[in-house]
Amino acid sequence: MKEFKMLINAADVSAHINKEIYGSFSEHLGRCIYGGLYVGEDSEIPNVHGIRKDAAEALRAVRLPVLRWPGGCFADEYHWKDGIGPKESRRKMINTNWGGVVEDNSFGTHEFFELCELIGCEPYVAGNVGSGTVQELAEWVEYMNFDGVSPMAELRAENGREKPWGLKYLGIGNENWGCGGNMDADYYSSVYRRFANFCKDYSDSRLYKIACGPNADNYEWTETMMKTLKHNWAWQASGISLHYYCVPDWANKGKAAEFDEEGYFAVLSSANYIDTLLTNHGKIMDRWDPECQVGLIVDEWGTWFDVEDGTNPGFLYQQNTMRDAIVAGLTLNSLNRHASRVKMANIAQVVNVLQALLLTEGDKMIKTPTYHVFDLYKEHQDGECVYCFTENENIGAGGSELPMLSSSASVKDGRLTLTLSNCSLTESAKLSADICNFAAAEATARVLTGDVHDHNTFTDPEKVVIRPLEVKLEGSRLTVELPACSVAEISLK
Ligand code: AHR
Repeated sequence: MKEFKMLINAADVSAHINKEIYGSFSEHLGRCIYGGLYVGEDSEIPNVHGIRKDAAEALRAVRLPVLRWPGGCFADEYHWKDGIGPKESRRKMINTNWGGVVEDNSFGTHEFFELCELIGCEPYVAGNVGSGTVQELAEWVEYMNFDGVSPMAELRAENGREKPWGLKYLGIGNENWGCGGNMDADYYSSVYRRFANFCKDYSDSRLYKIACGPNADNYEWTETMMKTLKHNWAWQASGISLHYYCVPDWANKGKAAEFDEEGYFAVLSSANYIDTLLTNHGKIMDRWDPECQVGLIVDEWGTWFDVEDGTNPGFLYQQNTMRDAIVAGLTLNSLNRHASRVKMANIAQVVNVLQALLLTEGDKMIKTPTYHVFDLYKEHQDGECVYCFTENENIGAGGSELPMLSSSASVKDGRLTLTLSNCSLTESAKLSADICNFAAAEATARVLTGDVHDHNTFTDPEKVVIRPLEVKLEGSRLTVELPACSVAEISLK
């Protein structure tokens, strides 16, 4: 056991933590939409208009605040009019990015908004810029948001929806430096302005337009976007995106549940690199926008491993272990700490794809360790991020080094929430924390822990679950012992 001191100052607030930092992403990819979220009305799997009840309920339970759709790379090939109207007459297309399978468009705009209503989250729609037209995207916005007499409002009503949905979050393309059109930053920024110009604010809705931002450490992209997005009267984008997958070696990603100590630390250290990216992109944005009017939207993040044996390589289906849980813990702590600039984040993806929150097999559904981390962290949503210092020491293997402990803290509605990860595989951490400027009468704690390879399966769905953790509060001194390989939440009231 190692001993560490901590200091938390509840009066030292650095930023508001937008609840949207705890968002996710659903793409027409593999079994994310079809099978994972949508099974069709004729399915024997319990559903509401084809939407899986178990998945919607599980996501509601962790208060998923926002869901991005329909991609990803798929977004820049998606033509929204193919996904409305009677299902039998919807056009079928090839999903060229993901396995070349037939996309029958049975899940479209109406189904997506209904899914978001069932979950209780904000919809975030990514528009097609790569292969679509300005008119097509402008009409989609009119279809979703216009409350009055217009061709798209009439079409919506013909399809059974009188009132507009009032979309807020609109992505103007996805990865336009890659699968979204292979553009360079100068070219995309002009394209962005043209598309964004015709996506209007209708009725009571005010669009929060998100421009395609950089991949990982492409700082030039951020610089160019910030330089060209500032119009003479206002910013033309409310946010720019950042995509970051923690993959130490793209040529050799390895398996989600089969790895050694070196593989563990390599992935964790790659996950921690997001902190450097947020700092550096943030510095560039600060120079152009010191008032933080443009949000950094981390709308794809997470682990990316080789697919599970016997599954379609284009479906990106991977297991999810305690290693993924620690990745989620480190990343979410980092996003909290950068909340003055980061206004939304979306883990990739929500079901059955990459670092999924849920996995399904037929009528069965399991919650992954990553799902449980979102549960542990949910009280941070819309909290105020406060000062939290942890004594630390570096650990690692195979050339990867990282701090043993990670933490963040927030205050909301008279509750102080502290989240912690212990990355050591062998040592527990005894923490002794001084809590300043917060009068707490009681403390409770919950923990997710186990062997680093532990994961939930359809035959053993509760191998990794949240359990209570003992914590002691004496005056303003809190003590707790974090097991090795764990993510924990401590709540003080
Ligand atoms: O999440 C999988 C893919 O990763 C997305 O479609 C794309 O945007 C990114 O490259």
